[in-house]
Amino acid sequence: LENGLLRTPPMGWLAWERFRCNIDCDEDPNNCISEKLFMEMADRLAQDGWRDLGYVYLNIDDCWIGGRDVQGFLVPDSKRFPHGIDFLADYAHSLGLKLGIYADIGNLTCMGYPGTTLDKIEQDAQTFADWEVDMLKLDGCFSTSQERAEGYPKMAAALNATGRPIAFSCSWPAYEGGLPPRVDYELLTNTCNFWRNYDDIQDSWKSVLSILDWFVSHQNILQPVAGPGHWNDPDMLLIGNFGLSFEQAQAQMALWTILAAPLFMSNDLRTISPQNMDILQNPLMIKINQDPLGIQGRRIVKEKSDIEVYKRPLSRQATALVFFSRRTDMPYHYHSSLSRFNYSGSRLYEVQNVFTGETISGLQNNTNFTVIINPSGVVMWYLYPTKNLEISKLMSQE
Ligand code: DGJ
Repeated sequence: LENGLLRTPPMGWLAWERFRCNIDCDEDPNNCISEKLFMEMADRLAQDGWRDLGYVYLNIDDCWIGGRDVQGFLVPDSKRFPHGIDFLADYAHSLGLKLGIYADIGNLTCMGYPGTTLDKIEQDAQTFADWEVDMLKLDGCFSTSQERAEGYPKMAAALNATGRPIAFSCSWPAYEGGLPPRVDYELLTNTCNFWRNYDDIQDSWKSVLSILDWFVSHQNILQPVAGPGHWNDPDMLLIGNFGLSFEQAQAQMALWTILAAPLFMSNDLRTISPQNMDILQNPLMIKINQDPLGIQGRRIVKEKSDIEVYKRPLSRQATALVFFSRRTDMPYHYHSSLSRFNYSGSRLYEVQNVFTGETISGLQNNTNFTVIINPSGVVMWYLYPTKNLEISKLMSQE
């Protein structure tokens, strides 16, 4: 959507995967969906280095709504959000963050709260703008295909008409199977800043793999439609939760970065380990995810050995490579050369290992190398060309 927003994939924190629809604040006051939870996450985003690295969105998901007032305006649950959403937006803004909110185009949200039916779209868009919200995720439960086809473009127009810059996240394609002809990706690109294409992520490696597999098998459709202002969304980052090993956490981060995916963590920033923070706060990783060209990467090689290689073109002729192992035995010694990954010409490459910081200098197309990839893990490289080989040859003759 060309509203000037999200020229690079959005980064931030989203409540759903980790905190779901936990509304029992008596039983679980520290983890229920409430303003306290969002304020505590806002504090962490601002104080623990997240915001300064680009994780600026603090996003509310389902289960915040209390109902509609007599004039039909949405109101938050008064017990869990006693100061209102405008207060939370102020709080986020005071810390240099942005606030995201959630609605659903059907009769009810997925968890059964009041929906934003077609007749309520303009009113709700204005409410969110009045509250000074910065992003809307519009879900699709309890709606028909027809209502979605009408509702998503109508909401895009209504948000635009408020005059407030509000990024627009659409779950639309996920409710249409994610693929053409039911999904019109050109229309989506003009309607939404990013969109969920596929199933909800769950806290397991199996779920990460099923999402990755779907995105890879349809990469010819999905890869070309991503770009500045319009992104595919394979769903939240699980890093810091319970389902992924260390290697798998690195793999999700690396693969989502290659896919130019939004980086919405859904974890507990109050208790996250230093190791998981390192994965999420890797500056070179973030630079690659946020590359200004905004080209989504692809899987370019699938070896019989169950090693896969992903490549993303970056600005200034740089590229990122991810070597990913689906093996379940032991660290695998993968022998290859850049020519296998469609590098050509006579350039010399500098390589930086994104996780370890190790560098390799003077790699050429045909230079053989070995990377050691752990089971369900990755090795990630950032490569940039240095000198032209012909020039360097000439110079060495002098
Ligand atoms: C379905 C969405 O895909 C999830 O991300 C989450 O928003 C839930 N609905 C909330 O009910």
